[in-house]
Amino acid sequence: MAELVVALDYKDADAAFAMARTLQGAVSWVKVGLELFSAEGPQVVSGLKKMGFKVFLDLKFFDIPNTVQGAVRSAVRSGADMVNIHALGGERMARAAVAGCAEAAVSVEKAPIVLAVTMLTSMAAGDLPVENAPAPSEMALDLAVKAEQYGLNGVVCSGLEVERIKAACGENFICLTPGIRPASSDAGDQRRVVTPAQAVRSGSDYLVVGRPITQASAPRETALAIVEEMKQAT
Ligand code: C5P
Repeated sequence: MAELVVALDYKDADAAFAMARTLQGAVSWVKVGLELFSAEGPQVVSGLKKMGFKVFLDLKFFDIPNTVQGAVRSAVRSGADMVNIHALGGERMARAAVAGCAEAAVSVEKAPIVLAVTMLTSMAAGDLPVENAPAPSEMALDLAVKAEQYGLNGVVCSGLEVERIKAACGENFICLTPGIRPASSDAGDQRRVVTPAQAVRSGSDYLVVGRPITQASAPRETALAIVEEMKQAT
């Protein structure tokens, strides 16, 4: 059964913890991204863990291998259950991330999942600032195949790409999909979007949803409705 991950894209811990309290018991996973982590640091991860959530620390590392290795070590020590890097960083960066995770995993209960971001779900054809770029879905597939070879546990991709990625990399290769938009909700800056039901039917393991829940008038009810839609599609 796929899991719902709610993106807590807030400016401070007070706002994030308030939403987390609203969602307690309705969802198991939350996501800490760049805005919240830059404001509050690792204490926000431990705070959410204490509330009983599993935490995806979405910092999308992209740097030289040595720096990424250290960054992943630190991210793992924060207690995160899932961390990520950019697949575009290539083999040495990816393998350094895996090594950093292994080094720090001895100090935590369970080694976290390490994912590679393929193509951001906000990017459509023509958004990659290079000449003759392949279509985003082709890029995502190629990067996923490489990420699997480099020892990562899975990828961040669009729901539109999950079927082909699973066919190429195996059913156990994790696909986490942002760009989820329930029917009738606003896509905003996202481009390669699918509904929760479509993501589940395509085989996605984790669905990341932010604004459709956090900006809803009734966030808990909206999250529960999405979980129900996911169940019905299973
Ligand atoms: O509000 P919305 O549902 O668009 O939030 C999606 C979340 O997933 C954001 O926190 C964004 O940073 C993250 N994300 C994404 N696309 C990726 C990786 C992460 O939208 N490829």
